[in-house]
Amino acid sequence: MQITSAEFVKSAFAETDWPGDHKPEIAFLGRSNVGKSSLINSLLGVRGLARTSSTPGRTQSLNFFLINRKFRLVDFPGYGYARAPKTVKALWGAAAENYLAKRAHLVLSIHIVDSRHEPSKQDLQLHEWLVHQQKPYLIIATKSDKLSNNELRKNIASIERGLKVDRVLTYSATTKRGRNEVWSAIEKSLKS
Ligand code: GTP
Ligand code: MG
Repeated sequence: MQITSAEFVKSAFAETDWPGDHKPEIAFLGRSNVGKSSLINSLLGVRGLARTSSTPGRTQSLNFFLINRKFRLVDFPGYGYARAPKTVKALWGAAAENYLAKRAHLVLSIHIVDSRHEPSKQDLQLHEWLVHQQKPYLIIATKSDKLSNNELRKNIASIERGLKVDRVLTYSATTKRGRNEVWSAIEKSLKS
């Protein structure tokens, strides 16, 4: 995909703040610090558009980015941050569930997991929601640059078994491995 424009639209803490028009949206979901915002930046080739941090819990609201004036990428806050206040933790589930259930023009949910780890309990829970919603989703295992090819192969197989899926894409925001595959999936979802 040729990126002609990528702009930050808004940060939404409540449903009333979600953009009102019906442009297609692609959501980026996953645990805190897994690399959601980095994935968005590396896809767009724009450093720092989505704010990243080595401190978990950086993204706290839904952040909407408008691409080519045609569709939006939605950066979600991460779940599973142990030190987050209980109210924030409860809010994540509610906000995500609400968005996933209601957003009619959500065309693809991208669930990002860490290629180094087994899916967590909350990863499994999110995956169940996505399956339950019967809307298109894609699972990406990121930070693949931190593993040898051998470890990576083993881990991807284990993540696929854990989530009971036959395809998990390998990604790295550092090397941009997997970038073309992710764009193909996004393009396909925009056409359907
Ligand atoms: P929250 O918004 O807090 O939920 O985090 P996030 O999922 O948006 O993660 P973020 O993109 O902020 O990245 C977290 C940390 O992981 C940062 O220090 C990134 O530089 C690092 N990181 C993200 N992706 C990769 C990757 O593919 N490879 C490596 N080596 N580091 C990565
Ligand atoms: Mg983030």
